[in-house]
Amino acid sequence: MNGPVFDPAFRVQLATLFGWRRDVRHFQTRPIPEPVLERLLAIARLAPSVGLSEPWRLVRVRSDTGRAQVRQEFVRCNEAALSARDGSDAGRYAALKLAGLDRAPCQLAVFAEPDPAQGRGLGRRTMPETTDYSAVLALHTLWLAARAEGIGLGWVSILDPERITALLDVPPAWHFIAYVCLGWPDGEHDTPELERAGWERRGVAVEILER
Ligand SMILES: Cc1cc2nc3c(=O)[nH]c(=O)nc-3n(C[C@H](O)[C@H](O)[C@H](O)COP(=O)(O)O)c2cc1C
Repeated sequence: MNGPVFDPAFRVQLATLFGWRRDVRHFQTRPIPEPVLERLLAIARLAPSVGLSEPWRLVRVRSDTGRAQVRQEFVRCNEAALSARDGSDAGRYAALKLAGLDRAPCQLAVFAEPDPAQGRGLGRRTMPETTDYSAVLALHTLWLAARAEGIGLGWVSILDPERITALLDVPPAWHFIAYVCLGWPDGEHDTPELERAGWERRGVAVEILER
């Protein structure tokens, strides 16, 4: 079977997509239509996974109570981070996420099942963490697919995995990977918000060691 041929114009578009994928913190509140979300999740499922185990597990946090509890956890963890880094801007920049948590119309907690039956253990004996990597790949695929539709994603990791696992009432063995906010962004940018805020800059190139 012959696969599709991706032409130079497509590659230019793809590079543009990578360049304009952003971690989004400011969202419009209008909801994402269900068919769009379903389409994005179907694309995320095309991600590679160790042993074809598809170990990603998603929890859609829809209730006001669930969202308020996650928000509270974020505030708690962010305050702890702030006090640990006296005089630093880190907590302030991290708190930019609050805007996302308050407004993003769609919020997902992403977990990895550490010992899925699917995949029959292939590839995991020496590197059990590959189930986590697989879930991250699904999340990154979702991130890019969303951006291709003009939808932004914001990754929140200033949370305590054990507490999120407990408050969302998922199996305690699942690994918490990320809490993500999804929605239409309030603005478009070709540089990271943290770069625009003066916190950090991208390196110039990938450094490769040779042996
Ligand atoms: C593993 C991971 C965890 C992250 N956690 C947070 C977070 O807790 N808070 C936050 O504001 N951004 C978080 N981010 C987003 C990064 O700050 C962002 O990707 C980076 O600044 C580059 O910006 P860009 O994604 O717009 O290119 C996270 C990103 C990754 C990949």
